[in-house]
Amino acid sequence: MKVLVVGSGGREHVVCWKLKQDPRVTELYCAPGNGGIASIATCVDIKANEIDKLVEFSKNESFDLVFIAPEDPLALGLADRLEEEGIRCFGPKANAAIIESSKAFSKSLMRKYNIPTAAYEIFDDEQKALDYLETQPMPIVIKCDGLALGKGVIIAQTLEEAKKAVSDMMGDKKFGSAGSTVVIEECMVGPELTILSFSDGNVAVPMISSRDHKRVNDRDEGLNTGGMGAVTPGADMTPELKARIQDEIITPTVEALKTEGRPFKGVIYFGLMLTAGGPKVVEYNCRFGDPEVQAILPLLETSLLDIVDAVIDGNLDKIDIKWKNKCSCVVVMASGGYPQSYAKGYEITGIDTCGKLVFQAGTALKDGKLVTNGGRVLCVYDEGDTLDEAIDGAYEGVAKISFQDAHYRHDIGRTLG
Ligand code: AMP
Ligand code: GLY
Repeated sequence: MKVLVVGSGGREHVVCWKLKQDPRVTELYCAPGNGGIASIATCVDIKANEIDKLVEFSKNESFDLVFIAPEDPLALGLADRLEEEGIRCFGPKANAAIIESSKAFSKSLMRKYNIPTAAYEIFDDEQKALDYLETQPMPIVIKCDGLALGKGVIIAQTLEEAKKAVSDMMGDKKFGSAGSTVVIEECMVGPELTILSFSDGNVAVPMISSRDHKRVNDRDEGLNTGGMGAVTPGADMTPELKARIQDEIITPTVEALKTEGRPFKGVIYFGLMLTAGGPKVVEYNCRFGDPEVQAILPLLETSLLDIVDAVIDGNLDKIDIKWKNKCSCVVVMASGGYPQSYAKGYEITGIDTCGKLVFQAGTALKDGKLVTNGGRVLCVYDEGDTLDEAIDGAYEGVAKISFQDAHYRHDIGRTLG
């Protein structure tokens, strides 16, 4: 089989790595890929949001499967376009990917179908949003409606901060058109948990749980990032908690999307908060989480290709998905300065000799050397019978890898955020 993976991060590296383990995958391409992916797939110089070029390339190369990993091409309708061309692809159509590309849509869906989430209001008028804030208790959460690379969410402690967030998004257009509409919602309290699940449009099968660490510095301090590390399991998944999440959140979401004429085929990311009132949805995403999936896929015993086929063909209820009974941890090594400005082009050493699985994100090959080329540079994986073993193992790997101004958290898996 000839397979194309779309994307360029650590998520795409682990997807390529896992797909390649299936002997049916004889030719693997990645667009655009990165310095690490280049060692296991043919990288093609087309960006993930260059939809026309990706469609043209897929047609010309006659791929048997296109795996769309990031949210942007999904929101831009790449899955729709490939289907029109008769090319088999993994990832939801734009009308289902909207669960991530519009927070206003997903909040309205949850309200309509009684799926537990924070209480909220939606505004497309700045003054009305500011007036509403005056009536609300603090802290409060302000979110851009559209895609903002995980940065369009402000947790405001005071009325002043909340008003500034609304003015930044709606008045000053700090996040462009993503902030023309905002969601203002109740601030929930509790540990966070990520549940990724495969969905074939009819049923959804959750993967093992995971927990992401979003803040850039130890003790959950500093700015929000795409994620600085992750562990699995993400919480003490008692049978009661599992059943509640499935019955109150996962199944109703898949059924709601189907009822709305937006069947979801792909991976639904449930960002949850375990509040005193039970599990509630913080956010939906329309794809694997990064770095959560780097901690999850190495524990998957079933071929990812079998699951991809079951999702596309609507047979997810007929496949038995098997997992290793282990805990795992990934620690992200980032460029100093991330998530704000940072330098690129520093040589990276130690990956081949660190003795651990390393999934690369912001890397490139330059004059035969592997160099930094992005904010999140790579992540180091390990697994163990206990979470402590997995964490210690991942940090042993981190200690052996170096590049100038490398930054990483020292407490992945040891705190709740
Ligand atoms: P989101 O992009 O919606 O996932 O938000 C980013 C992060 O902001 C989440 O992972 C939470 O840590 C936090 N957050 C978002 N919404 C809420 C909320 N309603 N209450 C408390 N924290 C929230
Ligand atoms: N790690 C969070 C995300 O992928 O959205």
